[in-house]
Amino acid sequence: MKIVICGAGPVGALAALYAAKKGHTVELYEMRADVRADDKEAAQQLGKSINITMSDRGFEALKDSGDEQLVQEILNHTVPVQAREVHERTALGTEKATKVPYSIDGRVLRVVSREFLRNILLDRIFNLPNVKVFFGRKLIHADLDNKKAVFADASIEDTYGGSNFERVSFDLLIGADGAHSAVRHHLARYRNINIDQRWLDNCWCEFQIAQADDGRPKINLDTLHVWPNNDIMFLALPNPDGTFTCNLFAPAETFKMLRSNQTAIADFFERNFPGILPNLMTTEELIKQFHSTKTSILHEMRVTPINYKDSCVLIGDAAHTMVPFYGQGLNTGLEDVRVLFRAFLSQAPTKELSGKQISILDSYSEYRQPDVSVMTSLALKNYNEMRLSQRSTLKYMRRKLEETLQARLPSAGWATLYFRVAFSTERFTMIEHKNNQQTKILKWLLGVSTASLCGLAASVALKF
Ligand SMILES: Cc1cc2nc3c(=O)[nH]c(=O)nc-3n(C[C@H](O)[C@H](O)[C@H](O)COP(=O)(O)OP(=O)(O)OC[C@H]3O[C@@H](n4cnc5c(N)ncnc54)[C@H](O)[C@@H]3O)c2cc1C
Ligand SMILES: *[C@@H]1O[C@H](CO)[C@@H](O)[C@H](O)[C@H]1NC(C)=O
Repeated sequence: MKIVICGAGPVGALAALYAAKKGHTVELYEMRADVRADDKEAAQQLGKSINITMSDRGFEALKDSGDEQLVQEILNHTVPVQAREVHERTALGTEKATKVPYSIDGRVLRVVSREFLRNILLDRIFNLPNVKVFFGRKLIHADLDNKKAVFADASIEDTYGGSNFERVSFDLLIGADGAHSAVRHHLARYRNINIDQRWLDNCWCEFQIAQADDGRPKINLDTLHVWPNNDIMFLALPNPDGTFTCNLFAPAETFKMLRSNQTAIADFFERNFPGILPNLMTTEELIKQFHSTKTSILHEMRVTPINYKDSCVLIGDAAHTMVPFYGQGLNTGLEDVRVLFRAFLSQAPTKELSGKQISILDSYSEYRQPDVSVMTSLALKNYNEMRLSQRSTLKYMRRKLEETLQARLPSAGWATLYFRVAFSTERFTMIEHKNNQQTKILKWLLGVSTASLCGLAASVALKF
């Protein structure tokens, strides 16, 4: 097949690697100029986070590409984190940090630079004879019946006025062009697509924490630091050099208020996030960084179906956008590639099912989108878990109880929701199902223990 992939983000680049390893002829088109030269500023302009956490799902997809050394090379450039470290102020006004391990058996998430991940994937495909990569080419039209896409020179301001068009034919067009996908836009002219998009009242921006004067990290390097405070939250992810890349999450109104006044951000941090000023950042640094970074808004999007016959399909953020609170957006996008290529594209293009012709991509869309939709909901729910204080919640108690069950009764297959999402490759719909079952059992157990406590109290009362 000739596979044309639109978008050289990490998901598009991995898809190109999979397709090339399968022996297809691959062309990868990217709107931006050679993205490998991308710097921090460029990423910020695009409203992209610089660093992200990867978990088993993402690594499994990289491993399955058939490139043996790829995972090891990536692992060498990551920072493992084994717990969420929650920083709070106690009722007495003292500062307190609580570690919440991601699993009872010491599994870790890995912090990786998004650019690094994309670049290493691009380097891999540059070395393959059956892949061509085109930078500065923007998809502006797609004829999905005649299987032709039109790319324009993205460096020309008025693309429609110029004559720098290129018509490209394909057998399969893969849209990996991110949350504002052009492929998705054209796909929607060929069939009725349901797009459910929600803009959240939640914005974010990025900060950096430098090393201490002696070059050492100022806080633990093996945890992901969280300062929760109701509807606002500050996150710090460790870097290999002992610096931290941080995100502030807050409602749009809060950002507006903070931006309107030069020093408001300092008071805001003093009040809400204990221990940051002046230990981790000086007031001057904080103010300077805040007023030179861009505010981005979070949104989530569910799309279904995500294909047109067997000629076009969406993957990654083009097919699903979720809030970052479970750290699964990219992991899910990379998993799309694995599922698409390993479970679907390896079959014959169309198959007969009870006398009806079913396209492979129809089956993929029907199989994958319910899973992705579950993850999108979980990501939003996790926001509530992260930004509220850890110990006071029932959820925390449930998690402790479940971890005990997982450790003591491994054969019962008990695992926390978090464990299944981050440290397995089970389908998200299956995870939801199992979690609902566990909830029922826990409620029942709780009922039984309450009943037996009442019984005990009654028998004690009778004796005395
Ligand atoms: C604050 C924040 C934190 C996050 N943290 C995590 C995390 O910890 N873990 C995690 O797994 N995920 C995380 N995510 C999500 C993750 O960033 C995305 O899921 C991921 O970047 C999606 O990759 P992609 O390749 O699908 O799309 P993108 O990275 O958006 O790439 C799309 C590419 O397509 C190109 N393109 C666009 N339009 C066209 C066109 N018309 N023609 C040609 N090319 C085009 C773009 O230039 C771009 O290079 C986070 C997101 C945010 C906002
Ligand atoms: C995160 O991004 C910063 C800035 O680009 C970089 O210096 C750092 O090494 C990255 N962290 C990881 C874990 O790759």
